[in-house]
Amino acid sequence: MDFEKIKPWIYKLNPEFAHTLTETVLKSYKYCPLFLEWLKKDTFITDLSLEQHLWGLKFPNPVGVAGGFDKNGTMVESFPLLGFGWGEVGAITPKPQFGNPKPRVWRFPEWEAVQNSFGFNNQGLERISNRLKKSYPFKVPIGANIGKNKTTPPHQAIIDYKILVKGLEEVVDFFVVNISSPNTPGLRTLLNPQFVEKLIGELSQLTSRPILLKLSPDMEFNTVEQVVAEAIRGGVKGIVLTNTTTDYSVMPTPIKRGGISGRPLQQKSFQMLKFVATFLKREELLKQIPLISVGGIDSPEEGYRRIIHGASLLQLYTPLIFKGPKIVAQINRGIIERLERDKFKTIGEAVGANL
Ligand SMILES: Cc1cc2nc3c(=O)[nH]c(=O)nc-3n(C[C@H](O)[C@H](O)[C@H](O)COP(=O)(O)O)c2cc1C
Repeated sequence: MDFEKIKPWIYKLNPEFAHTLTETVLKSYKYCPLFLEWLKKDTFITDLSLEQHLWGLKFPNPVGVAGGFDKNGTMVESFPLLGFGWGEVGAITPKPQFGNPKPRVWRFPEWEAVQNSFGFNNQGLERISNRLKKSYPFKVPIGANIGKNKTTPPHQAIIDYKILVKGLEEVVDFFVVNISSPNTPGLRTLLNPQFVEKLIGELSQLTSRPILLKLSPDMEFNTVEQVVAEAIRGGVKGIVLTNTTTDYSVMPTPIKRGGISGRPLQQKSFQMLKFVATFLKREELLKQIPLISVGGIDSPEEGYRRIIHGASLLQLYTPLIFKGPKIVAQINRGIIERLERDKFKTIGEAVGANL
């Protein structure tokens, strides 16, 4: 199917409805596994050079589904069909919640950007964990993006995260702690070194699954360094960078609500990666604490640029909306070509080569 041909029709639809429609199609694939395998052959790129083993998990390719695409874990079985080598589900909160009032997602095709103010709308821990149980173990590594309920005051947030880790331990491969969403009031205040050390420390005691932390692109570099150092002290196993930005100066015609993703986030996300990767390299920790880069990765050049600047894995969401699912295979193929050109046998050799 040619995405460019159907794009104008999709863009006529309200963005949240378009996503629900996509979900309806993708979740139905699990009932036709043979069809799924057949479709996958052109999209799901595997090559020894793309393969990595991180946290005891095998990642067949580095491109993953970013948090927020599959909020309720209904589409995990279709991730490989879209070409993804891994992904996240969620954000999941302990109790179900509706999220912020609609409209809460806006497309900006001229800037290849999206703004969203969803606010962790999801069906809650119980329903989602029961659903994931049916697909576990997954075909590719799947992590849970976990967040606190809106009604939980920030000083009790740690309780929510503990409930989520305990409740999802058996049905996901790793966790991404989300305290960087701009759409839950007060959440980003938790992105401070003291709280992060306590939060990651306590969660690490509860599970043998890797705990990753997702950062905001709007943090001062000074705070970033302290937060990363404390997260490591607490036992963090990887850093995801970044979530959406509320710096509305990155786009000419923003609305003043929610977070911006896609092309206008590209430079901020890249700078943040470079900063954290340089810090970890200096501490000789870049191999032990793999970095996941996300934000405006919409071409093979950009994907490869992130790898040579320290990212072991990549994620995307908004580029799927503007380039269609073919972008995933394009990035993976482009990385293979560039690894070969630069004489790296594997991604692992290329990670951080330009730092
Ligand atoms: C509609 C939408 C919903 C999102 N929901 C979440 C979420 O629930 N949890 C999360 O960590 N990030 C969420 N994000 C942020 C993405 O995971 C990602 O960090 C950000 O969009 C930058 O990547 P991109 O430019 O490839 O979209 C959301 C993004 C969008 C566009």
